[in-house]
Amino acid sequence: MAGDQGELVAALFDRTADTYDRTGVELFQPIADRLVAELAPRTGERALDVGCGRGAALFMLARAVGPEGRAVGVDLSPRMVAATAKEATDAGLRVVIRVGDAQKPPFEDEVFDLVASSLVIFFLPDPLAALRAWRELLVPEGRVGVSTFGDFSPAWKEVDKVFAAYIPTQMADPRTQSAETPFASDAGVERLLVEAGFTDVRTTTVTVPVRFDDAEHWERWTWSVGQRRMWEAVPADERRHVREAAYAQLDRCRDGDGRIGFDQVARFTLGRR
Ligand SMILES: C[S@@+](CC[C@H](N)C(=O)[O-])C[C@H]1O[C@@H](n2cnc3c(N)ncnc32)[C@H](O)[C@@H]1O
Repeated sequence: MAGDQGELVAALFDRTADTYDRTGVELFQPIADRLVAELAPRTGERALDVGCGRGAALFMLARAVGPEGRAVGVDLSPRMVAATAKEATDAGLRVVIRVGDAQKPPFEDEVFDLVASSLVIFFLPDPLAALRAWRELLVPEGRVGVSTFGDFSPAWKEVDKVFAAYIPTQMADPRTQSAETPFASDAGVERLLVEAGFTDVRTTTVTVPVRFDDAEHWERWTWSVGQRRMWEAVPADERRHVREAAYAQLDRCRDGDGRIGFDQVARFTLGRR
């Protein structure tokens, strides 16, 4: 990816790679599971996971296409790629994972039956150009599926607000982007796919209950995912104060069982070449 933004994103995810999605919080995996289910991979197909992270979608794809198929992942973060490749080997899964840019995926045209990308597209400087590039990688009639964040529990927005004063606007949370971005609505993401040339474009959604054992668990989780940048934006000598303010808000976000958390809508936008 051209310029500083790619370097910042790659460096951020390099810092999270060791613990990313490994803190016992169910968010990325259920979203990836549903994305893969919507794409309905078949034995022997060739599947690409763009921004594969720690393999939430990629490993499901590898199991679905089997040894006769091909499951390929690409991610900008070298540490994500290294950790995911090791885990795939340890699990006996046959996948190919490469360091590369989602905007310019390092593959030939028309070599995949499906392209999946879970919770990635809102990080890209030019999502439309990326979708166009992914379309080129697909065989005619090939499928694309992207997941993005929809709305989430109103009370939880107060937790995010604790960090608002510190975060530069260009680092805004993908869940809280202004109404002008395509990711603010189902129709906005659908329009992107249509503009990129995809047909049969449709959306499904699911609500994921995200729960934490306690406030410390939430804090560990935030350091292990993209939200890490929220903490990093807070000067070290102000972190204690921010933590106390966040913990006070968390206490107001309890479900019927008394567990801290929020409900997150995930959106799946599907299309066909
Ligand atoms: C929120 S994580 C999602 C990871 C994985 N798809 C999942 O669902 O768990 C976003 C991932 O996108 C990757 N990423 C961000 N920008 C990218 C780009 N331009 N090219 C490739 N990967 C990118 C990050 O390194 C990170 O692994």
